[in-house]
Amino acid sequence: MTPDIAPDVLRQHLIDPEICIRCNTCEETCPIDAITHDDRNYVVDPGKCDSCNVCLAPCPTGAIDNWRQVARASAYTIAQQLAWDALPPPQAVDAATPADIPQEVARITAVATAGQGGAAAPPWSAAHPYVNLHTLAKPAVATVSGNFRLTDDGASSDIRHIVLDFGSTAFPVLEGQTIGIVPPGTDAHGRPHFVRLYSIASPRDGERPRYNNVALTVKRVTEDHAGKAVRGVASNYLCDLEKGATVHVVGPFGTSFLMPNHPGSSLLMICTGTGSAPMRAMTERRRRRIALKEGGQLMLFFGARAPEELPYFGPLMKLPRDFIDINFAFSRVPGQPKQYVQDVIRTRGADVVRLLRDEQCYVYVCGLKGMEDGVTEAFRDACRAHGLDWDALLPAMRAHGRYHLETY
Ligand code: A2P
Repeated sequence: MTPDIAPDVLRQHLIDPEICIRCNTCEETCPIDAITHDDRNYVVDPGKCDSCNVCLAPCPTGAIDNWRQVARASAYTIAQQLAWDALPPPQAVDAATPADIPQEVARITAVATAGQGGAAAPPWSAAHPYVNLHTLAKPAVATVSGNFRLTDDGASSDIRHIVLDFGSTAFPVLEGQTIGIVPPGTDAHGRPHFVRLYSIASPRDGERPRYNNVALTVKRVTEDHAGKAVRGVASNYLCDLEKGATVHVVGPFGTSFLMPNHPGSSLLMICTGTGSAPMRAMTERRRRRIALKEGGQLMLFFGARAPEELPYFGPLMKLPRDFIDINFAFSRVPGQPKQYVQDVIRTRGADVVRLLRDEQCYVYVCGLKGMEDGVTEAFRDACRAHGLDWDALLPAMRAHGRYHLETY
């Protein structure tokens, strides 16, 4: 660990004294001697553990696989852990590190949600989001553990899946939240670069359960909205990162664009390009819980230039059809008519309106600013065709946390 750059919040590794059978396997396995014991408990030294997870698999009971987000200053000491009969309840770490949302983040969020008139209420059953645990003054330091190109080599866009590992630093996220990346260096005026926001593409428990990481879906920006050549500072920085590089991360952010947690809730998701990141996170959350048979439907409308330009095309195609109803809209496939997501929403109008009527269905729109009007018109038309008044429905959906839009 490097205390000089470590933030205030720690993801502390603990052993559950109620389940532990005191077999000594973890202490023998730990490569850095972070585990110790007395005649009562096996415990983890918060000053040594670097969350390498080597001890997890050999543990016969799972007692080793316990974590708490704690304020670093009040991490549980070895002496405290040795006295436990049971694990303590979770601490309220967000209250321990209050800080204002950076102005730049508030501005980006306001622009992103302007198309629906500002951020809506979150779904009533959404989990509690932590926000701004890591600030510009004290960013979290993540290590790049993967950087994979998602688009085909011949594709015109370079979209990447970038995995950031937070090691022993607590960085709790929920699907739909964003994190801020601070590109190193300064701009043409010698000022530090602004923070850039990216939606996380992983579910709350990371790319793999119990790995303390999140993935981002990043498109290398090489031109502006008008097609003029520009080099996006943050996107090029991220897309060029190599495995092992470190990145300064702030956040997490977002208290509205969150998924419902209650069984029976459905998701209607509409995205273009990298707007697929939150949809991947939510879909993956549901996929991991498929065996629980919680019910609810997933319907996805996904717009891209062509299949080879669509992030996560392969994994999406492998999902069971009775798990998710996928509708692609391709705009640049030679020999095929140009299609946008709004066209496909109209084609599937009856099913879309059935979901809009369903109070258990929550709608998420994410992608290009330009799609806002088209998608709104498609909803309005589909509603009109099936006896529903979109303009009356929208405010009610917003008030109940059922309609969420983020565009850029
Ligand atoms: P287009 O081929 O017209 O650019 P991108 O690859 O630039 O991220 O865009 C993702 C998809 O969103 C592309 O298929 C793109 O089509 C499409 N798109 C562009 N403008 C709109 C819009 N106004 N409404 C819906 N989709 C759009």
